[in-house]
Amino acid sequence: MERTLIIFKPDAMNRMLVGRILTRFEEKGLRLAAMKMQRSPREQVERHYAVHKDRPFYSALVEFMTAGPVILAVLEGPQAIAVVRNLLGATDGLVAAAGTIRGDFGLDVQYNLVHASDAPETASKEIELFFKPEELITWDRAPDRWIVSR
Ligand code: RTP
Ligand code: MG
Repeated sequence: MERTLIIFKPDAMNRMLVGRILTRFEEKGLRLAAMKMQRSPREQVERHYAVHKDRPFYSALVEFMTAGPVILAVLEGPQAIAVVRNLLGATDGLVAAAGTIRGDFGLDVQYNLVHASDAPETASKEIELFFKPEELITWDRAPDRWIVSR
């Protein structure tokens, strides 16, 4: 089992796509371990995207991610990190494959709806940045025995 951090970005919030996108994650079989809405402090967004701080799009990215409230969630499941990245598709909605979330709902490289962790080390760092340990919930979900066989 893996856990991954996702963020419904301000474009997904303002375009009222959170429910539809969350449904895709649920339909895949992924299980929520945490979820909350917040206005992200600038400093937290800067830390989250620190890897990009020298890129030309960094200041626009920080502006975008603080332009309105977001919903943060932790999803869990087998190979959840790669599974969620595959569901999202390529960064740029213009080239993301049809059938992926970014491919189906977006036309932009910055306004790409959802963030997802890209590796186990970043996933645990990101979960720690946005959630307190007691906010993460381990639970038995009734249909799980029909979603994962082993
Ligand atoms: P994310 O981190 O948000 O899950 O997205 P990602 O891995 O697919 O893409 P990444 O390269 O990490 O870029 C982080 C976010 O910065 C914005 N971006 N803008 N204007 C541009 O060329 C550009 N490139 C990236 C996007 O919001 C992207 O998700
Ligand atoms: Mg990234």
